Amino acid sequence: MSRRSVILGTGSALPPRRVTNAELAERIDTTHEWIVERTGIEARHIAADGETTATLATEAARKALDAAGVAPDKVGLIVLATATPDQTFPASATRVQTALGIDDCIAFDVAAVCTGFLYALSVADNMLKGGMADYALVIGSETFSRILDWDDRATCVLFGDGAGAILLEAQETEEEKGVLATRLHADGRHNDLLYVDGGASTTGTVGKLRMKGKEVFRHAVVNLAAVLTEVLAVTGHRAGEIDWVVPHQANKRILDATAKKLGLDPNRVIVTVDQHANTSAASVPLALDVAVRDGRIKRGNLLVLEAMGGGFTWGAAVVRY
Ligand code: UT7
Repeated sequence: MSRRSVILGTGSALPPRRVTNAELAERIDTTHEWIVERTGIEARHIAADGETTATLATEAARKALDAAGVAPDKVGLIVLATATPDQTFPASATRVQTALGIDDCIAFDVAAVCTGFLYALSVADNMLKGGMADYALVIGSETFSRILDWDDRATCVLFGDGAGAILLEAQETEEEKGVLATRLHADGRHNDLLYVDGGASTTGTVGKLRMKGKEVFRHAVVNLAAVLTEVLAVTGHRAGEIDWVVPHQANKRILDATAKKLGLDPNRVIVTVDQHANTSAASVPLALDVAVRDGRIKRGNLLVLEAMGGGFTWGAAVVRY
């Protein structure tokens, strides 16, 4: 028997306001055609006043709990991945805890930008296996619209707001199920390729996102292919056995190039970047929830989750859903 972290339920949340490429093209020097051709993005959701990383996270978490049929007071651990917290401190995870009416549990944020959900999943998986809790909410939630430079057409068209969540239960089982392996990486030498030009300890401001897109793109394909190969070697699965790849949704061309490099069937890759754009730490759990709810991802399916982002950070997980 081994103790495994099993996904009991998934949920997601998007701000109601949907902004199309055409709407952006009215305000900045861009076109629908350029954005679609270079990124695959057609629209993104943008948070309104009062909608925050914590409110979106809470909505996604509630849906994950409902899907699982588990009451909030069972949750012993909340790990929230975000680069856009409501406050510098306390952790937005504690706001989610309060909103869910949980009096006492472990709650903290993880900052690994677009790889945040993979980092949060790995931390939660190991804490559940270590006996720290029996149920864990793992959430990715972002309001990147608040850190975009809306005059920089090279970045502002690429991102959107949203949240995704999963409820994990620690189960003693002999079956191959739940989180089978996670692998994480970081290389801080590339800070200057994707970063925010502010911070509590430096400028005393929140700052705006800055990115050298071409260089990030090049690193993304190499790093994602490497970590996918690495994590599959840990579990001993072949690429052909994967039912669904649930990737970080940065750019359709990155998804295609990574799938090609690994010989993965492109029809087995969940794509939401067209409708959500890049929602950073939210993108993997959002895509997972979409594909669970539309019936593509079924119980027993072998999933590979992967992401790459600022830091650089990158990681992957193999999950039997
Ligand atoms: O989630 C974290 C990970 N992030 C990523 O993975 C992002 C990775 N990078 C990318 O997705 C792509 O590099 C971008 C989508 C950001 C850019 O695509 P690209 O094919 O690398 O374009 P580029 O940056 O080389 O720009 C090509 C041209 C430039 O014009 P010139 O210099 O050729 O005259 C840009 O000024 O496109 C221009 N451009 C735009 N034109 C219309 C840049 N942004 C826009 C825009 N609309 N929004």
